[in-house]
Amino acid sequence: MKFFVDTANIEDIEKLIPTGFVDGVTTNPSLIAKQGADMAETIKNICSIVNGPVSAEVTATDFTKMLEEGEYLASLAKNVAVKVPLTIDGLKTCKSLREKGIMVNVTLCFSAAQALLAAKAGASFISPFVGRLDDIGEKGMDLIEDIVIMYENYAFETEVLVASIRTKQHVIDSAVIGAHVATLPPKVIYELYDHSLTDKGLKAFLDDWAKTGQSILPK
Ligand code: E4P
Repeated sequence: MKFFVDTANIEDIEKLIPTGFVDGVTTNPSLIAKQGADMAETIKNICSIVNGPVSAEVTATDFTKMLEEGEYLASLAKNVAVKVPLTIDGLKTCKSLREKGIMVNVTLCFSAAQALLAAKAGASFISPFVGRLDDIGEKGMDLIEDIVIMYENYAFETEVLVASIRTKQHVIDSAVIGAHVATLPPKVIYELYDHSLTDKGLKAFLDDWAKTGQSILPK
């Protein structure tokens, strides 16, 4: 399972790279706006330090402009995955960009029917938003399960990229279901390390070790 980091904050990404857990990055217009920096510069900077796909989202809503924006975003770096919304124009744009060999992440997916359309349009990634479905009282993970089964049935190459992840449990559930990618806010990546028994066990080991007066490295 690949982990993408869901942020446009370069310092957060830089801090996480040495962990080896950054297989890619996802951004969206809200995350870019939060940084208050130029989008093209931000995407170029992220792409220069991340080897995997970096999603950069179009903001036009009509096909012609979306395609133009998508081609521009893709020209910023080889590893840009152009993000388009799951609309008629978005999927038309997806098809055209894919025909040009550009990676496409279809975003704002909230139903299995939408995910089926994205796969048929040749999307590289489909981004179902689990947290936002949970927010309205639905079970986001049920959607992930349906999409994974559906894609397997027809051997679609589109990767299921679980988005809008809020908790450690979302990550575990995504892995159990077999989603290809989870995009995690940095905070959730750090939460994956946590277990109170690890902290308690480590403290006990170190306390006992201190009593020996030894050091592992020769003095
Ligand atoms: C990433 O591709 C999505 O844009 C992001 O995960 C959405 O997360 P949110 O629902 O927490 O805004």
